[in-house]
Amino acid sequence: MSQPISKLVSRMNESATIKMAQLARDLSSQGVNVISLTLGEPDFDTPDHIKEAAKQALDDGYTKYTPVPGLVELREAIVRKFKRDNGLDFAMNQIVVSNGAKQSIANVCLSMLDEGDEVILFAPYWVSYEEIVKMTGAMPVPVLAGVEQDFKVTPEQVREAITERTKMIIFSSPCNPSGSVYSQQELEEIAAVVAPHEQVYIVSDEIYEYINFTGKHASIGTVESVRERVVTVNGFAKGFAMTGWRLGYMGAPKFIAAACSKLQGQFTSGANAFGQKAAAYALDADLAPTYKMRDEFLKRRDLIISLLKEIPGFKVNVPEGAFYMFPDISYYFGKSVGDRIINDSTDFCEYLLTVGHVGTVGGDAFGEPNCMRISYAASEEDLRTAVERIKNAVAELK
Ligand SMILES: Cc1ncc(COP(=O)(O)O)c(C=O)c1O
Repeated sequence: MSQPISKLVSRMNESATIKMAQLARDLSSQGVNVISLTLGEPDFDTPDHIKEAAKQALDDGYTKYTPVPGLVELREAIVRKFKRDNGLDFAMNQIVVSNGAKQSIANVCLSMLDEGDEVILFAPYWVSYEEIVKMTGAMPVPVLAGVEQDFKVTPEQVREAITERTKMIIFSSPCNPSGSVYSQQELEEIAAVVAPHEQVYIVSDEIYEYINFTGKHASIGTVESVRERVVTVNGFAKGFAMTGWRLGYMGAPKFIAAACSKLQGQFTSGANAFGQKAAAYALDADLAPTYKMRDEFLKRRDLIISLLKEIPGFKVNVPEGAFYMFPDISYYFGKSVGDRIINDSTDFCEYLLTVGHVGTVGGDAFGEPNCMRISYAASEEDLRTAVERIKNAVAELK
């Protein structure tokens, strides 16, 4: 029987992180002790005061549809947050709340992109950017920055990549998967290159804003020359450990916010009501639990860097945010054990999973095939055991 699947879905790949997480789970269910460092999910629970606010919201009747772009009190809290934390000025009609930052990004791409458009992705990039862009029919144009440049794209690289067809640039800072953080100065230099190209919009994904070890977060939307063409995306998943709540948002030029609202109105409508009410509370409440999580991630970062440095052939940077390491492991390409040859990062990660029983994700899906992603959102004990297993597994490769 034929299985009619649309061209739209056929041109997308399955999420590589979700796939590797599933393979790790499958192996676990066969009784194997697997340590999965595959998913981009804090291992902390949502802080109690936010959970209490959601319970209260349910009791207060926040159980109905909300306006498509979000509850008024949440959008007001987001306007305040953008001003307070980022120095960004948005009006209420420039804010759209969605089911996760992933939907915010999909909304912007589907609202703005057409076939033939080019979208510059700073590589390594978050896996979904590429697939969402492909879904619209536009063409992803990766601009690669390897470990030797701390995974940060230079203004010259951006200049070379922009063409008449470039419609959008998407990047995250702090970055998933590299943990790199762009400074205000670096963003200003990139903005200066983009500014003369009036058809180019920038999507700045700042979902890891609160997991930043530099003490300073910079938003490209503050740069005057491009301000009118920046969409700033953020969400609750990472900084507030609220992945399962599915709440993200954007601050955008009015016409983009209106288009996203129109699209979302026919697709998913507003996000869940009581979650939005609790999220509004979270933004204005004490951020101490968030900073405590950040400090914990920093300790683990320092631990895992020192452990990974002991593995021959692993090249690491010092990530300044998020909770990932993205070592260059290309030293092992071409090496083998028995008749098993490691040709690329996917082979390498499959080897680590099946032999070392540690789940990681190959760099190919992030646009940097020399690397692999390790999420260190795991206990210190698991991190120590995992790296020991990796070390033993790679020692077999000759
Ligand atoms: C860079 C980046 N942007 C967006 C998202 C999606 O966030 P959400 O869970 O709010 O959809 C993620 C999640 O892994 C991410 O790493």
